[in-house]
Amino acid sequence: MTTYYYTASSLDGFIATADHSLDWLIKQDFDENGPMAYPEFVRGVGALAMGSSTYEWVMRNENGVWGYKQPTWVFTHRALQTPDGAAVHLTHGDVRDVHASMTAAADGKDLWIIGGGDLAGQFADAGLLDEVWVQYAPVTLGSGAPLLPRDLDLELIDLARNRAFLCGRYRVLRAE
Ligand SMILES: NC(=O)c1ccc[n+]([C@@H]2O[C@H](COP(=O)([O-])OP(=O)(O)OC[C@H]3O[C@@H](n4cnc5c(N)ncnc54)[C@H](OP(=O)(O)O)[C@@H]3O)[C@@H](O)[C@H]2O)c1
Repeated sequence: MTTYYYTASSLDGFIATADHSLDWLIKQDFDENGPMAYPEFVRGVGALAMGSSTYEWVMRNENGVWGYKQPTWVFTHRALQTPDGAAVHLTHGDVRDVHASMTAAADGKDLWIIGGGDLAGQFADAGLLDEVWVQYAPVTLGSGAPLLPRDLDLELIDLARNRAFLCGRYRVLRAE
């Protein structure tokens, strides 16, 4: 079981603009059947975690229709509305406890921290983040939501080009 942070980023390390737009990303050319693409990645994933900005973006952009099949933990201090019938758990619990619940729910499959960057960092702080996959779009944003605002060492273990994107797969190195 591996805990991933799989995301797309601008070249200058932002995963959304300051006003949470992903227009710069959605317009890019990407082969869904190409290397390091989402459909193959998500097949191995059994549980998800995201912060509330990411959750609210998903809800806005999918018109309230919840597209994820996997049980999902949404980190928030607020009483957000959740989609009917979906396995969406709101939490402000310790990431270690949430990780244990995700692991149990995932039934041997992998875990995906969708974002944002600080939430992925919270899992890394607890020694619970194994890999970071980044699809770098050919754009700079200058400011926005940060990719992974931590001081971490990572090892590049795979790379690929997927049309417009430079894709890197990194292992998080932990202090011995
Ligand atoms: N480029 C991509 O592929 C990609 C991937 C993922 C996300 N995104 C986008 O990137 C942006 C990320 O936004 P963001 O940086 O604000 O991050 P976020 O993690 O989506 O949301 C941050 C919020 O989550 C809540 N939260 C975080 N940690 C918590 C904890 N331990 N306990 C309780 N609540 C916690 C807090 O909000 P409350 O006020 O609710 O407590 C916090 O302000 C979004 O626009 C998203 O759509 C892009």
